[in-house]
Amino acid sequence: MRGIDELDVGGRTVLLRADLNTPLDGSAITDDGRIRASLPTITGLASRGARILICAHLGRPAGADYAERAAGGPSLQPVAERLSELLGAGVPLAADVAGQAAAEVAASLADGAVGMVENVRFEPAETSKDDAERAGLARRLAALAGPGGRYVGDGFGALHRKHASVYDLPALLPHAAGDLVLAEVAVLRRLTENPERPYVVILGGAKPSDKLAVISNLLDSADRLLIGGGMSYTFLKAQGYEVGRSLLEPHLIPQVSEVLEEAAKRGVEVVLPVDLVAATGFAPDAGHEVVPVGAFPADRESMDMGPATLALFAEKLADAKTVFWNGPVGVFEFPAFAAGTRAVAEAVSHVTGLTVVGGGDSAAAVRTLGFPEGAFTHISTGGGASLEYLEGRRLPGLAALEDAGDPAG
Ligand code: 3PG
Ligand code: MG
Repeated sequence: MRGIDELDVGGRTVLLRADLNTPLDGSAITDDGRIRASLPTITGLASRGARILICAHLGRPAGADYAERAAGGPSLQPVAERLSELLGAGVPLAADVAGQAAAEVAASLADGAVGMVENVRFEPAETSKDDAERAGLARRLAALAGPGGRYVGDGFGALHRKHASVYDLPALLPHAAGDLVLAEVAVLRRLTENPERPYVVILGGAKPSDKLAVISNLLDSADRLLIGGGMSYTFLKAQGYEVGRSLLEPHLIPQVSEVLEEAAKRGVEVVLPVDLVAATGFAPDAGHEVVPVGAFPADRESMDMGPATLALFAEKLADAKTVFWNGPVGVFEFPAFAAGTRAVAEAVSHVTGLTVVGGGDSAAAVRTLGFPEGAFTHISTGGGASLEYLEGRRLPGLAALEDAGDPAG
């Protein structure tokens, strides 16, 4: 893959696809990690005189057509404002994605300046399954860069999406991968090519349906799998435990049982919770008590891992040389139920070796809980993207960047 240093960008318009999909509370950004992670490529391009036009998505806008989606939002306005603060320079945001307003912002950029187009998912073609529809939008976006335009793909967190601005657009312009994409891929390669052992993987998050594929693939490489959080209740159920009203995907029990059998066959140790925090309901102030997994009350739901589980997880991490962690192990957004996720973060931070916190929710969790970036080797900006990479799948956006064949002209 070509990096940005190998692309001539001076005085040219560079369409930069970034992943600036930040969690919002109303219009307030609650974690700006992805914006910060995008800065090195932006400043690197700016210092070489590129005119940077950023294309990014935010959330999943709903609506039948452009007008409905644009009316419903979310707009990238708060992101443009935050980026402008971080860069210490104005970042004009076009009122549309690939129309007149976007063309005007593009034309207004001086060498080294940064502008943005609106939420690319306002255009239904961005996420369309129809190749021709996506190609149409890609051509309109490419036209914004004008003759001699360039494309830089740095939206690591969206590389698993076969979307117009991620997958189709790079084929139309000479392109390179941004620094963030190169750094993320380098870390993922360290996890997949000969990881130092023991290699311990911690998986949490709501549902096994999101993680079964990666678990199957990890059985080839990991030595130990620690499973916590929402997804662990289906695993416990598959082992014959009652989990009351806890989150459950009962239809997946047969598949989960198969995965457990396969792990046993291959000598991969699977560690499940031994105690849970049973709460009266899903609320920040819900009454709760710690119970062993063998005695879970029928009318309660689990909101976190209990102390015996946390000690067990810490013990299973103590000798690790490589760790990948994806997914909170409790409802960390409620302080009363954040102890599990905090303890896992703590234990991972003590590991001397490669420690990777994978994406989205877990990255937001460790920052929300106050862990400094330096507590881990790498906090990934990609949740789904890192998981799909570790599943052994080819990420469409990565394939598009790896294809160095530049279009003529
Ligand atoms: C993410 O937040 O996982 C990425 O930005 C991709 O967003 P998506 O899951 O809505 O496609
Ligand atoms: Mg996602």
